[in-house]
Amino acid sequence: MFNNYFLKKKILITGNTGFKGTWLTNFLLIMKSNIIGVSKDIPTNPSMFKATISKSQINQYFFDIKNFIKLKNVINKENPDIIFHLAAQPLVKKSFEDTIETWETNVIGTVNLLEALKTYKKKIIVIIITSDKSYKNKEWVWGYRENDELGGSDPYSASKASAEFVINSYYQSFLNKKENIRLSIARAGNVIGGGDWAENRIIPDCISSWSKDKIVKIKNPNSTRPWQHVLEPVSGYLQLAYVLSKNKKISGEAFNFGPNLDQNKNVKNLVKKMSSYWQNKKWSIDKNHSKIIESRLLSLNCEKSKELLKWTPTLSFDEMSEFTISWYKTYYSNKKRIKNLTYKQIKDFMSKF
Ligand SMILES: NC(=O)c1ccc[n+]([C@@H]2O[C@H](COP(=O)([O-])OP(=O)(O)OC[C@H]3O[C@@H](n4cnc5c(N)ncnc54)[C@H](O)[C@@H]3O)[C@@H](O)[C@H]2O)c1
Repeated sequence: MFNNYFLKKKILITGNTGFKGTWLTNFLLIMKSNIIGVSKDIPTNPSMFKATISKSQINQYFFDIKNFIKLKNVINKENPDIIFHLAAQPLVKKSFEDTIETWETNVIGTVNLLEALKTYKKKIIVIIITSDKSYKNKEWVWGYRENDELGGSDPYSASKASAEFVINSYYQSFLNKKENIRLSIARAGNVIGGGDWAENRIIPDCISSWSKDKIVKIKNPNSTRPWQHVLEPVSGYLQLAYVLSKNKKISGEAFNFGPNLDQNKNVKNLVKKMSSYWQNKKWSIDKNHSKIIESRLLSLNCEKSKELLKWTPTLSFDEMSEFTISWYKTYYSNKKRIKNLTYKQIKDFMSKF
């Protein structure tokens, strides 16, 4: 798929200690890239980052991307060939509690990265990860396309949409005039997979109960989401970087990475499927749940990525569920095997391309 494009490339990943960042780092380690990580912290305990990546494998920096000088200095010191920008406050519920932190990290953090690139001299590919929540949710039944209107009401969605305005402005005003920089935006939605322990996400909620043999209480059982395995968008980010390096015309553009529309399932069906892969672990519906304002079904039209990047979703609903549950079962039964299983899942996934 990407030939040897990533071999020995210097790749800076912001947010590399998080859920998606750890999968991306492992994927690139398999392809023998040199990884520079920039993260504020290790966001969860347990942590997939801790369980699968050793200190000697990457060059890790811990600081806040709100610190422009530090970010600029690391970029100029390390001179990466590629940057994947994932660092964010990514949780809708937390964005209601830590609203300023969400805005600052998601918007000013992105400003800082782009500002540092204004004076960057080396040839570079930049992929900025936003979200399907960047789209203004019009409660349509059909998928959103890249040129649909952006916007969001909850603080997280609005911060991601705002980051897109920032990117567009920097691109039009400065970066598109620089021959050495190519930049694209990647939008994906709800991802699941092994290694996520974030709060208030459905799979981590299930796992934290099931690993203690407790019943999980599910909120919003009828909410339908376009679920996909984390390796799907991660492979999309990689494919986008690869195609962008060959094709200057897609610089400045956004790309969607979502599942096929027939993968839309409600929370109840997802939990049922997951439990079937883990000795029918138990679940019930939480009737006391107080709702926060989160948008309803939003799915992505991925024709542009399919056509221009030759990217396509790979795993079926069953495969995605099996990958996810077998990861956690292995983690809780024999943590020492988790690095091997992670590599195996990435290689199995690649063999399906
Ligand atoms: N997980 C999903 O379902 C999903 C869906 C759509 C988009 N996204 C986007 O993908 C990206 C990664 O999400 P995730 O689920 O892996 O998140 P995560 O919470 O697991 O990881 C977040 C990462 O960002 C870092 N970070 C947070 N604030 C920072 C700051 N101020 N300075 C430096 N580093 C900081 C953390 O240390 C961590 O490495 C985010 O941009 C998120 O908005 C995620």
